[in-house]
Parts: sequence; C-alpha cells; structure tokens
Amino acid sequence: MSSTARSCFTVVVLALLVQLAPAAALAQQGPGWDWPDKAKNLKVLPSDTPKEKLRETMMVFTRSLGVRCPYCHVGEEGKPLSSFDFPSDKNPKKVIARDMMRMAGDVQGDLKKMHLQGTHRVAMGCQTCHHGRPVPATLVEELGWTYETSGIDSTMAAYQNLRTRFYGRNAYDFGDGSLMELGMNLSGKGKNDDAIRIMKLNVETNPTSSRAEEGLAEAYAAAGQKDQAVHAFQKALELDPKNRNAERRIHELEGSAK
Ligand code: HEC
Ligand code: HEC
Repeated sequence: MSSTARSCFTVVVLALLVQLAPAAALAQQGPGWDWPDKAKNLKVLPSDTPKEKLRETMMVFTRSLGVRCPYCHVGEEGKPLSSFDFPSDKNPKKVIARDMMRMAGDVQGDLKKMHLQGTHRVAMGCQTCHHGRPVPATLVEELGWTYETSGIDSTMAAYQNLRTRFYGRNAYDFGDGSLMELGMNLSGKGKNDDAIRIMKLNVETNPTSSRAEEGLAEAYAAAGQKDQAVHAFQKALELDPKNRNAERRIHELEGSAK
C-alpha cells in the first residue's frame, strides 16, 4: 500500500471521532495500564503514532465491529488491560484487522482518484461495511449458514436473536425482502415445509406486507398446497388491491385446479 493510502486511513479515523464517547475509552482502561507513548509493533499505522491517536483508532475498531479488545488482542475478557499483550500478533484476528486496514486504505486511495459528484464525501472506514458486527454478512447469508449447519429450528431462533440485538441499527435488513429471499432459496432446494415456516415468519413480522403474503403463497404453491396458496394470494390482494401478480396467480391456480 502506498503512503498516500495509509494517510487516507488516518483521516477517516479522525472523521469518526465525533461519534465517540471519550468516557468509554477511559472506563475500559482500568488501573495500572495506560496507552503506550510509543507503540512497539505498528505495521500499518505510522510507528510514531501518538497515544491519543492509537486510542481513537482502537475505539473506532471496537465500535465498528461491536467487539471488545480481546477479540483482536491476546488477553482475557474481564481481566485488567495490564495483563494484555497488545504488541503480540498471536491473535489471528489482529492480523486480519491489519489486512483490513490496508484494504480500507487502498479503497480510500481509489475513491480519491475517482471523479465523484457532489461536495460531500463519505468517510469510508470499518463501519461502512461492518455496521457493528465482526462478520458483515447479510441477514440472508447469516440465516442460510445457520440453516445449513443447524436446521430450521435454529434458523427461526437465530432470526429472533438477531432482530432483538440489531433491529433499528442499520446492520441487517429486517424488511420483508430478506426472509422472502431465504424462503425462496429453501423452496428452490425442495425444502418446502421449512420454506413455509420462513414465509409464515415473514408474514407475522410484516403483517401489512402484500409481498410477504405473496411469498407465503408461492411457498404453498411450490409444496403443492393449492388451497392455502390461493388463500394467501387473496390476502396479498386484500393488503394491496393493485397487486396484479397476486390476481394473476389466483387465476392460474384456480384454472389449473379445474
Ligand atoms: C478489530 C481488531 C482490534 C480491536 C478490537 C482492538 N485492536 Fe488494538 N490493535 C489492532 C491492530 C491491527 C493493531 C496494530 C496496528 C498496526 O499494526 O498498525 C493494534 C494495536 C494496538 C496497540 C499497540 C500495541 C503495540 O505496542 O504495538 C494497543 C496498545 C492496542 N491495540 C490496544 C487496544 C485496546 C486497549 C483495545 C480495546 C479498547 C483494542 N486495541 C482493540 C486491532 C484491534
Ligand atoms: C469493504 C468492506 C469492509 C471494510 C471497509 C472492512 N471490512 Fe473487515 N471484513 C469484511 C468482510 C466481508 C469480512 C468477512 C470476510 C469473511 O469471513 O468472509 C470482514 C472480516 C473482518 C474481520 C474478521 C472477523 C471474524 O471474526 O472472522 C476483522 C477482524 C475485520 N474484518 C476487521 C476490520 C477492520 C478493523 C476494518 C477497518 C480498518 C475493516 N474490517 C474494514 C469487509 C470489510
């Protein structure tokens, strides 16, 4: 990475400072530990980074990923920071975080070269992708992984869990489109009963969405449950009388029933 890109990363950290509560940093510090005047093992940040800047950078990391210091450093959660080995690279997450810093710096460098429009520039940084989570997957990806490894009951529970923790935080898309996509993926794999459960959950969580009812209707249709499918399409039409697709599908299904 070029030194221009490196300094770009620094700028973003500064731009994010406004969002930070300084008290949070002090609270985590604990007795017998202070930020180093001279860090021992910096490979992306300049080696003479002042301690205020280092602290700010680490606070941006913890906030952006929704984690605490031991996620990336050698040390135990709940133990005083004086027992941590911050210069150590033994925690693989720290090595990944460094690569991410380089990547973010490269992207910032590329953005600078683009002829972007308007006067305001987005402060591209860790939070742009991470939104308070260590692995910035979409809701569909995350639930899909849970389904593959642990099945439908765990997937239903995982949805509620994520919703409780992240709703309104701009981390996952809890709109009617996500469960719809997941349900369609399951129908596509012939997992009809599981698809119906996901589509029902979508209807329950989005009771005014015509599209969610349509999704449920398609899952019933895929499972060969024609009456339920027609019933759900009728509900979709009630919720949105202009829903031409629902109208068309009712005709199709009723026609094929004769
Ligand atoms: C997302 C991962 C991540 C989190 C979370 C994180 N750090 Fe870091 N930390 C790093 C990386 C990466 C470096 C090295 C940066 C470099 O090489 O330029 C570093 C370096 C440091 C250093 C300098 C060590 C030295 O002497 O070389 C200190 C001190 C430090 N972090 C403290 C903290 C504290 C305290 C917290 C919690 C408030 C924290 N970090 C949270 C990734 C993280
Ligand atoms: C362009 C989007 C993007 C940006 C910007 C970004 N990340 Fe990431 N990060 C990802 C993605 C995607 C993954 C997950 C990759 C995977 O596991 O498939 C990830 C994974 C990680 C992980 C590993 C998490 C785990 O538990 O496996 C760490 C640590 C991390 N990022 C730190 C950072 C830090 C620190 C920054 C800011 C310097 C940052 N990232 C900026 C996209 C980004």
